[in-house]
Amino acid sequence: MPSKAKASNLHAFRTSQRAAPLSDFGRDLIAGLSREARSIPPKFFYDAAGSALFDRICDLPEYYPTRTELRILTECAPQIASHIGSQAEIIEFGAGSLTKVRLLLDALDAPRRYVPIDISGEHLQAAAERLRADYPQLTVQPVVADYTMPMVLPPQGGATGKRVGFFPGSTLGNFSPNEAFAFLQLAQRMLRGGGLLLGVDLVKDPALLHAAYNDAQGVTAAFNLNLLARANAELDADFDPEGFTHAAFYNAPLRRIEMHLVSRRAQTVSIEGQEFTFDEGESIHTENSHKFTVDGLRALAVRAGFRPAAVWTDPERLFSVHWLESPTAQ
Ligand code: AVJ
Repeated sequence: MPSKAKASNLHAFRTSQRAAPLSDFGRDLIAGLSREARSIPPKFFYDAAGSALFDRICDLPEYYPTRTELRILTECAPQIASHIGSQAEIIEFGAGSLTKVRLLLDALDAPRRYVPIDISGEHLQAAAERLRADYPQLTVQPVVADYTMPMVLPPQGGATGKRVGFFPGSTLGNFSPNEAFAFLQLAQRMLRGGGLLLGVDLVKDPALLHAAYNDAQGVTAAFNLNLLARANAELDADFDPEGFTHAAFYNAPLRRIEMHLVSRRAQTVSIEGQEFTFDEGESIHTENSHKFTVDGLRALAVRAGFRPAAVWTDPERLFSVHWLESPTAQ
């Protein structure tokens, strides 16, 4: 019966249209590729495979930031601890490397509370469990939130010392200058009477920067290209990972490393039923990693309401760790 066939076709059409709502990744990917200057936000690097690749980056001979920051935190821990004082509460922005906060906790006198803030809940709970086991005196209260937005922290039980923000790893460098300023302003308000312990990468010989993002083993390239594999795995997408190549270079006027994925040929990619055409040589901008001078960072912090109180660097001045005090409101 023709009319019945028609009705069931219509039904099939409707079901296929009522697809699952797009994930944040799907939404941001399609939006980023629909703009004239194509881009993908760097926060999507960190699925399970991307996080494992990032851990390998941190151990690469060319990638100096992680080991240099760890060295600064280790060697300067007693001085850092004397600025922070006893019974502090630590608010970490981003799930964070347990190694880094442990260095801090080990140096502090009787830290009371640790509040890691991250958008990804799973990572956070597991990390919190491990920390609770090793620091039974510490209250560990993970918060699932976007730390670039204002938020309410869980109420603290009992007296504590300073509230200390911890933002290591030069993650600040992923923000545009305006976003970095907005983040620092938000942190300053959240940390009144305490301060922010902030790790940022420094401006240096472009050849060293170039090598750090173009490692000989190709781990950074794999990390960048993993975005496309992630799109294929999580979304209805058909990127040919061989069709794109990793490009990273230092943009000296803007003092940042830029990472891109460059199309090796003219090609069309389908994502959730939408087609995206790439010219040969066309690029997708995947990350900015801003580099700072010590004075430039301190000036930015002052504009955001902080009082820069101390800074520690390695002897080669590759990386810096800043203690920025947040004055109590008048
Ligand atoms: C985690 C943003 C600090 O910018 O160096 C490493 C990420 N990208 N290699 C950085 C990254 C390529 C990293 N941050």
